[in-house]
Amino acid sequence: MAKDVIIALDFENAEKTLAFLDQFTGRKPYVKIGMELYYAEGPSIVRAIKERGHKIFLDLKLHDIPNTVKKAMKVLSRLDVDMTNLHAAGTIAMMEGAKEGLTKEDGSCATLLAVTQLTSTSEERMQQELLINATMPETVKAYARNAQKAGLPGVVCSPLEAELVKEACGADFLTVTPGIRFADGDVGDQVRIMTPEKARKHSDYIVVGRPITAAADPVAAYERCIREFLG
Ligand code: C5P
Repeated sequence: MAKDVIIALDFENAEKTLAFLDQFTGRKPYVKIGMELYYAEGPSIVRAIKERGHKIFLDLKLHDIPNTVKKAMKVLSRLDVDMTNLHAAGTIAMMEGAKEGLTKEDGSCATLLAVTQLTSTSEERMQQELLINATMPETVKAYARNAQKAGLPGVVCSPLEAELVKEACGADFLTVTPGIRFADGDVGDQVRIMTPEKARKHSDYIVVGRPITAAADPVAAYERCIREFLG
């Protein structure tokens, strides 16, 4: 199974994003376009980065009624991204609608992932604020199983939960894990974190933002991630 490091391009505009990517001479890292950049620049930023030859994870985390998500995914399918996502909390019906909307007429479909619980959410907040009366591992496992029931190939989860997702849904069920920090790096607002080296065992893809984008030498930080994650 393909394993890779995905850089989270959490920049405010196209200019800063493309200047960041210009530093990677000769390399085409897999990149993630999130809400900030997509809402600032719209579909044109996806096309521009695709034209440069990068694989793209469009991280918009859709969550609405099934019909709305299905129609939105149909629109997104025209962008030909490699990966996109939604919140598993939107129910199995919403995930099924999304899959249907994202599937093209020729039957092909981008890798559609469900977010289990955000890596910035602690178990305590999940229980006290979201009133989820279960442990974090139980919740993540149940949400991953729901995603699988809806026909999705994998989830976005904390690297700390990737092993139990594989146990619950099988080794081929994809785990894409943000919340990655170097052993000697800043944690920021992330709570459920792991190093690239430790994530290697149960994550198929790691998503890394600030440890690369805010590094003094982003290319060196990316290469360190690749070395630690791919071995
Ligand atoms: O800078 P950092 O490495 O924390 O960036 C992580 C990226 O992964 C951010 O773009 C964030 O939106 C995203 N993400 C996350 N937790 C999830 C899903 C996505 O941190 N569960």
